Amino acid sequence: MRRCEYGPSEGFPALREWIAGEMQQRGVQCAATDVLVTNGSQQVLDLVGKLFLNPGDVVLTENPTYLAAIQAFQTLEAKFVPVPTDEHGLVPSALPELIAKHRPKFLYTIPNFQNPTGVTLIAERRRELARIAAEHGLVIVEDDPYGKTSIRG
Ligand SMILES: Cc1ncc(COP(=O)(O)O)c(C=O)c1O
Repeated sequence: MRRCEYGPSEGFPALREWIAGEMQQRGVQCAATDVLVTNGSQQVLDLVGKLFLNPGDVVLTENPTYLAAIQAFQTLEAKFVPVPTDEHGLVPSALPELIAKHRPKFLYTIPNFQNPTGVTLIAERRRELARIAAEHGLVIVEDDPYGKTSIRG
């Protein structure tokens, strides 16, 4: 009898290996077994929302941000609180006050070629963001569809 099965639910193993390698190059400790391949970004935004959000929970976002992410989290009745943003990206120094006031479940951010502004978060602010997130236990959901398109590598 011929066996008929779908591939592994977590994704094609060679692709998971490749993604883990990419993440390691970015300094993220990551094994292939940590990687879940999804069907486009909408599926993972939905999964992230389901994982973290209950009705009324707050998500911090750049202002403005990616419409489809808003839609995915809105379905779960999340509230959105904008983080002040300028030509260098979001302003990390604004975060401690927002975190204390709103107790967000996570920050949703597009640090490279942000949609819709096209702004890329400068290195200094990335470091500050990482420091503040670690200090305050803020989860960062990074959406990076465009980082690899940079001509600076
Ligand atoms: C920030 C951001 N995330 C995700 C996507 C869409 O990604 P996918 O084609 O994987 O659903 C887009 C496309 O416009 C986007 O701008």
